[in-house]
Amino acid sequence: MSEREPEGAAADDLGFAAETIDTSRPHPARMYDYYLGGRDNYEVDREAAQRVIDFLPDIIPAARANRDFLERAVRHLTESGIRQIIDIGTGIPTSPNTHEIAHSVSPDIRVAYVDNDPIVATHAGARLTGSGGNTGFFLGDVRKPETILEHPTLGELIDFEQPVALMLVAVLHFIKDEEDPAGIVAALRDALPAGSHLVLSHATADFHASSLPEVFKVYRNATATLNTRTYDEVLAFFDGFELLDPGLVQVPLWRPTAPPDPDAVKRIGFYGAVARKA
Ligand SMILES: C[S@@+](CC[C@H](N)C(=O)[O-])C[C@H]1O[C@@H](n2cnc3c(N)ncnc32)[C@H](O)[C@@H]1O
Repeated sequence: MSEREPEGAAADDLGFAAETIDTSRPHPARMYDYYLGGRDNYEVDREAAQRVIDFLPDIIPAARANRDFLERAVRHLTESGIRQIIDIGTGIPTSPNTHEIAHSVSPDIRVAYVDNDPIVATHAGARLTGSGGNTGFFLGDVRKPETILEHPTLGELIDFEQPVALMLVAVLHFIKDEEDPAGIVAALRDALPAGSHLVLSHATADFHASSLPEVFKVYRNATATLNTRTYDEVLAFFDGFELLDPGLVQVPLWRPTAPPDPDAVKRIGFYGAVARKA
């Protein structure tokens, strides 16, 4: 987007300098925005994302299917009575955003958005927050769950005496094994009261083993590397939770609103599930 400025709030209004937005390296949030057909990306992101698409054209239906999973999961939980959501790894706003889905069910639902990418913050000001004080955004790194849990914006929005929906949708594959993703999920889980839910999706190489090495190379030059995981490795993140039906599945198979096309499902390298803390 060297040719265009972001449409969101000025970076310095949000507590960081505009120069912290690195336009020299591809950012996963902006690459994902490109896969979804968004315009909030820079040339460097488009080039990297296009290389991924060239090696793995299925990334486009997979990104869409992941987003649709997010929408169905949020709708399900809010229709079941959840009134507060922590959405970590928010991404650049794209319609419908988590709070828009939630507020179509009940306008009093509170949503705390967290992402570590300043570009997401610039857009969040205009497009994710300001819903009558029910939504907020702050910059936070999931690798430091305690800083997220202690953040004042989280404290203003989330009552830890009441059930929470914790969303880790398409974010943990940016966390390396040595950064202990399971420990991160456990730290967040332990802060949640019983009756809370985890919504988690994760990229896998299980369906695209041959094209993935080239994709890994592209992400190695990005600000976060891609760490795909197997079914069992993703399942392990749900330790301490009870999976809702149908369990951990490729995302189009999670409570679809119409029968999914089996040939299309084969192309989706994302697992997802929703689970309840007992
Ligand atoms: C693929 S996007 C997913 C967006 C949205 N959750 C969805 O599924 O549609 C991944 C997001 O995770 C964010 N992210 C990556 N590493 C992160 C970290 N360590 N802490 C917080 N957010 C992170 C990226 O900036 C990006 O916005």
